Amino acid sequence: MCGIVGYIGSAKAAPFLIKGLHQLEYRGYDSAGIALTQPETGRIEVFKAKGKVDNLERKLQQAAGEAAAFTVGIGHTRWATHGEPSEQNAHPHLSGSGELALVHNGIIENYQLLKEQLVELGYTFQSETDTEVLVQLIDYFYQKNGKKLKNAVSQALKKTIGAYAIVVMERNNGRHLVAARKASPLVIGIGQDSSEFFIGSDATPLIEHTHKMVYLEDEQIAEIRMGHELEITNLDEIVAEVSVKDVDLDISALSKGGYPHFMLKEIFEQPQCIENCMRGRVVKQADGTYDINLSALHNFKAKLIRARHVIIVACGTSWHAGLIGKQLIEEMCRIRVEVEYASEFRYRNPVIEKDDVVIAISQSGETADTLAAIQLAKQEGALVFGIVNGVGSSIARETETGVYIHVGPEIGVASTKAFTGQVTVLTMLSLALGRALGTVAEDKFQQICAGLVEIPRLMKQVLKQNDAIANLASQFTYAKNFLYLGRGYNYPVALEGALKLKEISYIHAEGYPAAEMKHGPIALVDKEMPIVFIATHHQLYHKIISNMQEVQSRGGRILAVVTEGDTDIQKFAHDLLEVPDIINCLEPLLSVLPMQLLAYHVAVKKGLNVDMPRNLAKSVTVE
Ligand code: F6R
Repeated sequence: MCGIVGYIGSAKAAPFLIKGLHQLEYRGYDSAGIALTQPETGRIEVFKAKGKVDNLERKLQQAAGEAAAFTVGIGHTRWATHGEPSEQNAHPHLSGSGELALVHNGIIENYQLLKEQLVELGYTFQSETDTEVLVQLIDYFYQKNGKKLKNAVSQALKKTIGAYAIVVMERNNGRHLVAARKASPLVIGIGQDSSEFFIGSDATPLIEHTHKMVYLEDEQIAEIRMGHELEITNLDEIVAEVSVKDVDLDISALSKGGYPHFMLKEIFEQPQCIENCMRGRVVKQADGTYDINLSALHNFKAKLIRARHVIIVACGTSWHAGLIGKQLIEEMCRIRVEVEYASEFRYRNPVIEKDDVVIAISQSGETADTLAAIQLAKQEGALVFGIVNGVGSSIARETETGVYIHVGPEIGVASTKAFTGQVTVLTMLSLALGRALGTVAEDKFQQICAGLVEIPRLMKQVLKQNDAIANLASQFTYAKNFLYLGRGYNYPVALEGALKLKEISYIHAEGYPAAEMKHGPIALVDKEMPIVFIATHHQLYHKIISNMQEVQSRGGRILAVVTEGDTDIQKFAHDLLEVPDIINCLEPLLSVLPMQLLAYHVAVKKGLNVDMPRNLAKSVTVE
């Protein structure tokens, strides 16, 4: 996701900022910017560019003038969340008074309300971002309190709901920076004798300058002044202890967040991604009950409620998420749903009626076939709803409404966190629509919401089996074929498990609904054939045990994903992996994790390039 850097000291700030932004490129971004100041000059110079940090660097070389020598600066790489990728929406954002500049990672959930209040107070806005709202809010308190920056920051943050890591710069007092965090990391590196400080959203840009680092805690504010000790307080300005850590890290590993591959990093990010995806959307109310808040649903409620028929169009992993979406929407909303490969749909002269809703699912938002399917649906007058990760992407722009999955950039070619993000959005959408239609019982609605908010914690539990899965994977590198079997909500997970394995390990794998096995694929089963069963408690458990017995009696090697504590399946399976018990419609969010890890480790054991498998592209912008 977005990256932050900052510098205050006696060296030129720009070279550190630009290099630091390059070092944070691994997080993914769509635009970049820096702000520079100098204690004596009392002015802030901002440089921004859409696209790569190289573009920003070129701009700086052409236009920086004396600012190139300024010794205080903040910088940012932005991954769009509110407003498309553009120079205007890129950070740093200046307050209307021009006195403050801010960089921000995270999402301000109540920015709309704050913006309305600030507009009433006469504030105007140049961008569509939540970040500009935050800098204006800080400015409001700053003007009111006699220009005490730290106090203004704490007052503003008290009004803010959401996640943030911020660094704020002041025009007329270039001798300090103020930084704060909540639910988004921020680290401050201390130079020799506190003569200079380095700031980063992670330690990557800092490590070559200092090993003395302070990781801010949630709701802490740091005042960073050249030549002074770091001062940290909470939002009530009560002084907190400054805990300096001696950090020694391998910079090459840091660029992937400490993981050997982007794919593994992205698999492990999922608990945080799902939290981000639900932030401000699954809301616990004062009486302890849950509500689901999706503005797309609110704005198009009448059309969505009228829908007699939903068509989901997508490709690959997003299509598998769509299959789960079909089950969710049919269960919660009692609306008929078809799931179509976008590539087939676009050429099939499909029946689309005016009251139909077409849901397009895409991680990149750029998939050519999905785009073409959307255009066809629009021509026929259907409402097109997007479930997309790429903010401002072609699909986000082409769809009339939709919900971003907000899982951050996915760099590994094999999709992982986008899948769980898409399933989370589909779950929230089905629940909210089902409630509006009156087709989901209130106690079931509440039970599923309560389960959803537990998912990040339960995902972490499943991920603890990583080492066990890595060991298991060594036993499968010989395999030429794999079969993945599941039922109900876990049938699409079987398809997804098989797709992951073939994409990165080049082992042929097929996913099937378990009961279909005896209509053909069982002919393939022999001692050489690993068969993965997703056999959790809910999904026709006893029937899947019978399917397992059929495989066992033909000598197939069974790896079963079971509900925690299930010992009955031990009799049939060679190996067991566990997922915590959860209501069945939420199971894919947990059961897909062992599938992702298994594919990853088999590919690693085979010595393959997991992040860039042969013949595949991250974004399929051609037919
Ligand atoms: C699988 C994978 C692909 C994509 C497919 C659709 O790991 O990455 O199957 O899911 O190309 O891409 P998006 O979701 O970007 O439309």
